[in-house]
Amino acid sequence: MNKVVLITGAARRIGATLARGLHAQGMTVVIHYRHSKQAAQTLSDELNQACPRSAFMINADLRDLNQCNSLITETIALTGQLNVLINNASSFYPTPLETATEENWNDLMSSNLKAPFFLSQAASVYLKKEQGCIINLIDIHAEKPLKNYSIYSIAKAGLNMLTLSLARELGPNIRVNGIAPGSILPPEKENSLSEEEYQTLIRRTALKRSGSPDDILKAVDYLIRADYVTGQVMAVDGGRSLFM
Ligand SMILES: NC(=O)c1ccc[n+]([C@@H]2O[C@H](COP(=O)([O-])OP(=O)(O)OC[C@H]3O[C@@H](n4cnc5c(N)ncnc54)[C@H](OP(=O)(O)O)[C@@H]3O)[C@@H](O)[C@H]2O)c1
Repeated sequence: MNKVVLITGAARRIGATLARGLHAQGMTVVIHYRHSKQAAQTLSDELNQACPRSAFMINADLRDLNQCNSLITETIALTGQLNVLINNASSFYPTPLETATEENWNDLMSSNLKAPFFLSQAASVYLKKEQGCIINLIDIHAEKPLKNYSIYSIAKAGLNMLTLSLARELGPNIRVNGIAPGSILPPEKENSLSEEEYQTLIRRTALKRSGSPDDILKAVDYLIRADYVTGQVMAVDGGRSLFM
């Protein structure tokens, strides 16, 4: 499969699994990162060792519109084409109403909503040439709010609508779909759950376990190949949303 995929926030965690998995299928991967330069370098070296010039890394702070645009032009300069854009990068932290700031609003809205919109805009001319697709990493909390995370939940709800709106606007040349993960990787730092909170979450999940980044990879893989599917958001949550 001679495809080029750009994955935002791909140095670590779910994004890195997507990069490895799609590369293993023969795709050229562009690994976008912001702070995780070392992890991006290690991943890109690993992939290039397996197949020279099959992985590239590009730095961008997606809060900045100019850097969003450069991310697409640099991708094209390096690879000459773009088949798949995966909007995976995201900032995630609590913003209780009493203490939330405008800076929090701008940060969470930019990475989770504004950047996917403007990256889609900049990429659309190239994706159209390849009859390509866009896949947005959303969240089951786009539909049912996560308590104390209102700005994040609002941004992901917007990303849900962005997925539907652009699927309509960009057809028939570009397909646009989303994946709404449930509990896949434990959140880090201020978002981490206590053992008790985690056990409650698992009890309230039909499949009684967390998922893994490979579960997201399988859904991405399907959506890349699903030529007659657009405007869909697939929950990959082990049935967690049935209990919310
Ligand atoms: N993990 C889960 O269980 C889960 C559940 C629901 C939804 N999701 C969604 O699935 C996707 C992947 O999840 P994840 O947990 O792997 O993500 P993550 O680790 O929270 O974030 C992925 C990357 O986003 C990048 N990023 C954040 N703000 C950025 C900015 N302003 N500019 C550029 N890059 C920025 C960071 O890159 P650097 O490290 O390079 O700075 C980070 O490594 C996200 O969209 C998330 O909302 C995940």
